[in-house]
Amino acid sequence: MTDSTKTTSQTDKFLVYGNPIAQSKSPQIHQMFARQTKQDLIYDKQLATIEDFKSSLDDFFADPSAKGCNVTAPFKEQAAQWVDELTSGAQLAEAVNTIIRQDNGKFLGDTTDGPGIVQDLLRLKAVKKGARILLLGAGGAARGALKSLLSLEPELLLVANRTQAKAEHLASLIPQDNVKACGFDDLIEIALPFDLVINSTSSSLSGELPAIPDTLLAQTGFVYDMSYSDKPTILLQHASKLGVQHYSDGLGMLVGQAAESFYLWRGVRPDVEPVIDALRVEL
Ligand code: ATR
Repeated sequence: MTDSTKTTSQTDKFLVYGNPIAQSKSPQIHQMFARQTKQDLIYDKQLATIEDFKSSLDDFFADPSAKGCNVTAPFKEQAAQWVDELTSGAQLAEAVNTIIRQDNGKFLGDTTDGPGIVQDLLRLKAVKKGARILLLGAGGAARGALKSLLSLEPELLLVANRTQAKAEHLASLIPQDNVKACGFDDLIEIALPFDLVINSTSSSLSGELPAIPDTLLAQTGFVYDMSYSDKPTILLQHASKLGVQHYSDGLGMLVGQAAESFYLWRGVRPDVEPVIDALRVEL
């Protein structure tokens, strides 16, 4: 065995699964974290299909140096079924974006999307305790963030969705007085202002604006869009035109969720700021 083979066989291995996966920034992010914190690890990306995803996980983790993986669309629900145990956050989300090989040999599934957005909102000083928060959307992204957003101790966390029934179902998963739901149409009658509006809908990806009143958006303290691209998303552009001063896209959330995964695997918290800056330049 050569020295280099020996090193490779002992180096902890990580992966991100997705389909598509070529565009994933996770390897780059984790390699930056590893350099920064002087951790020796390999982090790759892996394409899978719905049919072979679980067997691909079996194969990857058959190697004892495989310590964990990230999972992105469309495999988060399947990953939640594959693991031995789920954290409470992953149970609520019914989705897993991080798998951890534990010392007892069992695989734990967690979701770091919620902690990732909370970390980013705090970094941006976008929210204070007692805030009125409006969460747009009730799909997988909203579901992953909901419980973590409550750690910000909002006075109100209102889930609003184009399809009202989905918002109501999501809010019903957290029976707390400060968690409420409505359809977009009801937003006309809602008391303003909101301190923070978070867009978790996939509308930005299709270049559409969620159909919420301009008066609501114009009076919002901070607008956060979970999507990101090389220029401000359509929602952020619109908010800016309406006079909103403080807004951000979700690039910091992407890095934040990766930092939470890295912490779960390595027990070290990387500095997200230089990594966000480096990615922003390349967008
Ligand atoms: P994700 O995992 O990205 O959350 P998803 O689970 O398919 O994807 O959910 C997509 C979310 O974006 C839903 O809340 C959807 O609203 P509906 O439940 O009414 O379909 C929302 N969405 C998608 N396109 C939208 C648009 N153009 N305007 C408003 N909401 C939109």
